[in-house]
Amino acid sequence: MISYEQIFENNKKWVESKTASDKHYFDQLAIEQKPDYLYIGCSDSRVPANEIMGLKPGDVFVHRNVANLVNNIDLNVISVINYAVELLEVKHIIVCGHYNCGGVQAAMQPKDMGVLNPWLRNIRDVYRNHQDELDKIKDEKFRFNRLVELNVEEQYMNVAKYAVVQKSFVKNGFPVVHGWVFDLHNGLLIDLKVDFVEILKKLRQIYNLAD
Ligand code: CO
Repeated sequence: MISYEQIFENNKKWVESKTASDKHYFDQLAIEQKPDYLYIGCSDSRVPANEIMGLKPGDVFVHRNVANLVNNIDLNVISVINYAVELLEVKHIIVCGHYNCGGVQAAMQPKDMGVLNPWLRNIRDVYRNHQDELDKIKDEKFRFNRLVELNVEEQYMNVAKYAVVQKSFVKNGFPVVHGWVFDLHNGLLIDLKVDFVEILKKLRQIYNLAD
């Protein structure tokens, strides 16, 4: 286990390493942020957003929660998306799930999870909407993996349902939304290659908030 004190030692070393190559590093960092990316991912400790993308402080605006959900009544994610689109003017929004996600796994167990029930229900709803496909997958691991992917696609669509996202895309051509899965077994990011223009066209038949 890493001791509590060690973290402050690590922090000092990090500051030294940053200022060794550029003594104005923190002066620059303090001025403003203008990241091109918003990343919405899982809170899982094994999926550190900046690190897996090779991005530095200032490069990506990050929101994480259990199982990377974009829930319609979660003021936290709503605020993050609004701020990122309207004020930071991000060019890309990434929804990133990961295989072996504990949140998705918990949702696959048909039992009472107490206070987690309302949160997990979002994932159970994804299962219900794709039950025919998922129930056909006999291997539990593959079924689990597929639900992780379908959950990303669902949360992706939830991002595209926001007025702020639709309005900005219609006016400016950004942000473009992307769906990714992080594979813990090899460290690779997989782009699910969801076509944002197609998805938006389809969604706006029902959820059009851009006009
Ligand atoms: Co997870």
